[in-house]
Amino acid sequence: MAPVVEVEHLAKSYGSFTAVEDVSFTVEEGEIFGILGPNGAGKTTTVECLQGLRRADGGVVQVLGYDPRREASQLRRRIGSQLQESALPDRLKVWEALDLFSSLVPGGPRWQTVLEQWGLSEKRDAKFGSLSGGQQQRLFIALAVVNSPELVFLDEMTTGLDPTSRRATWDLIRQIRENGSTVILVTHFMDEAENLCDRIAVVDDKRVVAMNTPEGLVQEYAGESEVTFSSDIDDLSYLLRLEEVDGVERQGRRATVRGKGALLARVAADLVGHGVAPTDLEVKRATLEDVFLTITKEER
Ligand SMILES: Nc1ncnc2c1ncn2[C@@H]1O[C@H](COP(=O)(O)OP(=O)(O)OP(=O)(O)O)[C@@H](O)[C@H]1O
Ligand SMILES: [Mg+2]
Repeated sequence: MAPVVEVEHLAKSYGSFTAVEDVSFTVEEGEIFGILGPNGAGKTTTVECLQGLRRADGGVVQVLGYDPRREASQLRRRIGSQLQESALPDRLKVWEALDLFSSLVPGGPRWQTVLEQWGLSEKRDAKFGSLSGGQQQRLFIALAVVNSPELVFLDEMTTGLDPTSRRATWDLIRQIRENGSTVILVTHFMDEAENLCDRIAVVDDKRVVAMNTPEGLVQEYAGESEVTFSSDIDDLSYLLRLEEVDGVERQGRRATVRGKGALLARVAADLVGHGVAPTDLEVKRATLEDVFLTITKEER
């Protein structure tokens, strides 16, 4: 099956300023594909080019088989979009917005269902301008999915949402995928990316600098983990003979062993082999946030 999105060497400038220099990736059907990266890296510009909202200056882009530069109107009927900078007329009511958006493409679910799913039933008759920031945000996501689009773009979808709403939103996004849609998600929340995304592209300084599954990125870029435990025996240098171990340090009674791979299992077995059985063995694994900081620091 052809990928839902194919981007090769995308480039986009605003006047003489290059915002995106060389971005390439593909997104397969049914994936939740994450785009991470520092402020100003070019994420929003990239997803706007994919949606035909901005005209790329270079590269090849195919979205659902369309070229967004030439076939933006056909494309937009089949995608849903929550933009980072969205606005609606202040006096438009919540139900009117949903009714309007759902009328653009027939065949989607009834907007009343979407209203309930996204926790907006109480605000059915409220004017857009009277909604709280988080409620406006929820409405934007609801509008992006009201037509059951094949591909949904969400740019910082949970910014401004309370923790409970964020979690509820994740469940709804998973549901959207289960119903057969593909999702492209731009986010600054590492937990969101880790929980939701099948694959992630890290964009930094106008290009894709890493791409993998969340676990793959952790393995690739921050593969080191740490095992700590308390011990009265000073000489633990035998641990250094293990292939997995990169270093052993002590602070008082607390020992820290750094390394890769099956570190915990190998260290525990070796300790027991040497007659040491710590009761407080702990392991700290690198997170996606560590990866993000490592990758984006390297690029600076
Ligand atoms: N309309 C515009 N005119 C001129 N420069 C722009 C315009 N839009 C974006 N830029 C610049 O292009 C670069 C990339 O912006 P973009 O919005 O794509 O970043 P981003 O990765 O989405 O950042 P953030 O995480 O802050 O949302 C930035 O340096 C920005 O200042
Ligand atoms: Mg942005």
